[in-house]
Order: sequence, then C-alpha cells, then structure tokens
Amino acid sequence: MKKDIITLGIESSCDETSVAVVRNGREVLSNVINSQIEIHKRFGGVVPEIASRNHVEAISSVTKEALEQAGIEFSDIDVIACTYGPGLVGALLVGVAYAKALSYALNKPLVGVNHIQGHIAANYITHKELKPPFLCTIISGGHTHLVHIKDYTDFEILGKTRDDAIGEAFDKVARVIGLQYPGGPKIDKLGKEGQPNIELPHTYFEDSLDFSFSGIKTAILNLHHKNPDVNKADLCASFQKTATDMLITNTKKAIRKLDVNKIALAGGVSASDYIRKRFEELGKEENVEIYYPELKLCTDNAAMIASAGYYNYLAGNTADLSLNAIPNLKI
Ligand code: KG4
Ligand code: ZN
Repeated sequence: MKKDIITLGIESSCDETSVAVVRNGREVLSNVINSQIEIHKRFGGVVPEIASRNHVEAISSVTKEALEQAGIEFSDIDVIACTYGPGLVGALLVGVAYAKALSYALNKPLVGVNHIQGHIAANYITHKELKPPFLCTIISGGHTHLVHIKDYTDFEILGKTRDDAIGEAFDKVARVIGLQYPGGPKIDKLGKEGQPNIELPHTYFEDSLDFSFSGIKTAILNLHHKNPDVNKADLCASFQKTATDMLITNTKKAIRKLDVNKIALAGGVSASDYIRKRFEELGKEENVEIYYPELKLCTDNAAMIASAGYYNYLAGNTADLSLNAIPNLKI
C-alpha cells in the first residue's frame, strides 16, 4: 500500500502566520491561522515591520498547535513546505528560516512554494475531484491573474494586472469612504444595500487579457472628494459591479480562447458573495463548471501552501538550505 505523505505547510507572506498539516495534498488535519488583522487595522493596512515581528513571536506556538490539532509529532512529517514569495520580504523570511531549520533538524525534504500557486491549490482541498487542466482567476490583495493551469506544476499566465491588484483597489476604496481594513468584506456587505447606479470607467486592453484597476479606484476617490455625501452603499455596489465586469469579460475571453470547461476562483477576494454569484452566472452562460475554495481557504492560510507543496514535492521540485525569500516572485 502506498504510504501517506504528511506535509507541514508554513505561510507568513503578509499578515497571517499560519501552519497546517495536510495528508496527501488534499486532506487537512489542521490549519492554524494567527491573523494580525486587529493589529494592523488602526494603520489602515499592513505595516511590514510590525508584521515581521509578529510572525517571529507567533510561529513556534502556531506550529505546536498545528501538530497538536493534527495529532502528530514532528517525526511524522514527511515534507516541509513554506511560502518563499511573493510577499513582504521580512515576513517571508520568518517562515523560510523556520522551515529551513525544521528541514535541517528533522532531515526532511524542503519545498519552496509560490504563494499564488498556493491560492490555486486551495481549490484542491475543497474540491477533491478537481484536476488540471482548468482556468483560474486569481483575485487577492496583492495579485490579479488569469492563469491556465495545465498541470499541478505547469502554469501559463494569460493576463495580469498592470497596476493595482483588485483586493488593493477594494481596500483603498474602503479606506477612503471610511470602512476599516480589510475593506473587501465590508464593500461586499454594504454593496448589497445599494444600487450599481454610478457610472465608472471600465479598462480593457486590445489583444490582451491584462487588467487595470487604478482607473476605477481613482474615479471613486475623485467622486468621493467632490461629493462626500454620495451614497456609500451605491458607491460600493457600483465599484463591485464595474470591477467584476472587468474580471468576467476577460475570463470569458480566456474560456473561448482555451476551450476549457472548468474555472476556479482563488484568493481572498474570491470570498465575495457578489463575485461568486457573477461567476456562477458566467458558468451557466458559457456552460462551464465554477469552483471556489471554502471561505476559510480563500484568504491566506497554510493548508493551501501544504497542498501546493505536496504537488511540487511529487514533481521533484524540492529546495535546499539556500532557499531564500523572493518578494517579487513570479508564478
Ligand atoms: O488572499 P489574501 O488573503 O491576501 C493576498 O494574498 O493578497 O487577500 C486579501 C484580500 C484583501 O484585499 C481583502 O479585502 C479581500 O481579500 N477580501 C475580500 C473579501 N474577503 C477578503 N474582498 C471582497 N469580498 C470579501 N468577502
Ligand atoms: Zn494571499
């Protein structure tokens, strides 16, 4: 009988210190997430230096808890996977250094995981039957990518943002209209009470599936400065609708270009009810199956890193102790 592979995943690229234990890339035995959201809230966004220090303080106890919840010991771990980019360099370094120390001490293989690949892999945990190839629309605080997932470790980028990530635009718009960080969930909630009746600019590029969210963000900021009494719920609804229109248009073009029958959403912004609904509609219209991770796996967590790490391990993509943090790592 084939032996189970137990992967310890470590995530520290932004403001979540997370450690998870995952069996065979799909079965979560534990997924402990220590979020720093409360700490960064009063600054209106993540402060890198504060994030790094909090990762250092949290990582040992989060690891201990992940092992306890999974009911395993250090000696039961087969593979150690950590996020090594993209992200905040000081924050990434904490997870990378910790993973390297564990790999050395336990004499177990080390795998460096691209954070964006981690977001994609969150879908493998929620949907046990999902296998490549499929199209993935990755929408998070730091990234907006349209990717053809040809195989577990074989990706082709079809389009990406040329300026702000969609989540960044959500967070900035929210801050300007007085909603607290992270703004995405608040815009999603308030938008339900409003009407998308404010005309905002859509940005598309000819012969390209790239995105741009800076135009819509600036339009909202100008609108709000000119008229601070503008209805906030309508503003949220209009912003969400316009940003989602852009996502849907390019995703639809990609479906037709590739002739795929599966689309997965990934990343923190895929927690949005509104965006999920719009993609469900797109699925019906284009006759494609829509997948998205369960809510807890949409935002940053280590289970998704363990899953991506497992598939990289199977593909032979292991690292040695020279593994370093790469803040601008590409997919
Ligand atoms: O994936 P993630 O945790 O971090 C990055 O890798 O960037 O994404 C965080 C982003 C934030 O911009 C947050 O506002 C957004 O995800 N977000 C949402 C929702 N929940 C989180 N955006 C819209 N609707 C939500 N329900
Ligand atoms: Zn993320």
